[in-house]
Amino acid sequence: MTTKEQVLTLLEKNRGKHVSGAFIARQLQLSRNSVWKAIKELEKDGYCIAASTNKGYCLSDENDLLSVQGITPYLTDGRQMDIHIFDSLESTNRTAKEMAVAGALHGTVIIADCQTAGRGRHNRSFYSPAGKGLYMSMILHPSQFRLDTPTLITALCAVAVCRAVEAVCERSPQIKWVNDLFLDGKKICGILTEAVTDFESGTIEWIVVGIGINLTTQEDDFPVELRETAGALFAGAPLGATRNRLAAQIIEQVLALESVSRTELLADYKQRLFMLGELVTVLDAKGPYRALAVDIDDAGRLIVKTENGKTVVLSAGEIRIQPRNNCHRGK
Ligand code: BTN
Repeated sequence: MTTKEQVLTLLEKNRGKHVSGAFIARQLQLSRNSVWKAIKELEKDGYCIAASTNKGYCLSDENDLLSVQGITPYLTDGRQMDIHIFDSLESTNRTAKEMAVAGALHGTVIIADCQTAGRGRHNRSFYSPAGKGLYMSMILHPSQFRLDTPTLITALCAVAVCRAVEAVCERSPQIKWVNDLFLDGKKICGILTEAVTDFESGTIEWIVVGIGINLTTQEDDFPVELRETAGALFAGAPLGATRNRLAAQIIEQVLALESVSRTELLADYKQRLFMLGELVTVLDAKGPYRALAVDIDDAGRLIVKTENGKTVVLSAGEIRIQPRNNCHRGK
């Protein structure tokens, strides 16, 4: 770790509190001058550090720069993880896949302040402006992650993110199948799960879970075509938690998925789904059809009943919820 990173680690551990230059120097076995230089470098990077002759240095609570040093104190027992942070990437999922192919460890995390070609499901793009959201991908190796079914992983990651958001941001998002998170009727988070299967054995070699959360994006910030449907966790309000803290909680919750009982997770998933019992339009490759969203099965698949009474089990795809006032219910 560089001197700057060491000083940042110490300031992050004491965020919001003053620590004297002498204390930092003693703890890190550095000269007071090296501490001062590191503080100046951190300020140049954009950190807001209050300095007072009597009390020392204090990393203000408002700093929201992404850093490994900012995430680690929020991980259980400060556990060391392979976390990579970038100012800008085309897509964190893309970089994650490259790293997975190159042999990255289970649990490796890639985060970017902004994405220039953020990707969504169904080949859509994901709007990822700098400083306004959290864009991260995690590499999971199925041999170390007991949730084997891709649909289940896809669905349950939404539960993990909801739990993290609740714990850190005091907001309770709902889920639209498969894994879009909604708050006050607007989509605030999308999750793109990608897997690579070994062609010969048919086994999944690794999974990349990409999570994009709009945090402070205002309606006018979004491209026109997204303004009606996209929202943000803290739209029009001050950021209620740092991205580092939220990222740490998401990492914890995603990794915890394999140790929590599947029954409990599925019950939580169903409870957060806001579309069971609703009339939906299934956007099927062969053409859209209307159906009633009936239930979720043990593999996270959506069970729908079509207008002619046929039961269909969907493991992927997209649905639209029909507005309640212009449809006939109860079929
Ligand atoms: C969707 O809503 O269709 C899924 C959006 C997923 C966006 C995230 S942002 C981090 C990761 N990198 C990407 O390019 N996409 C995912």
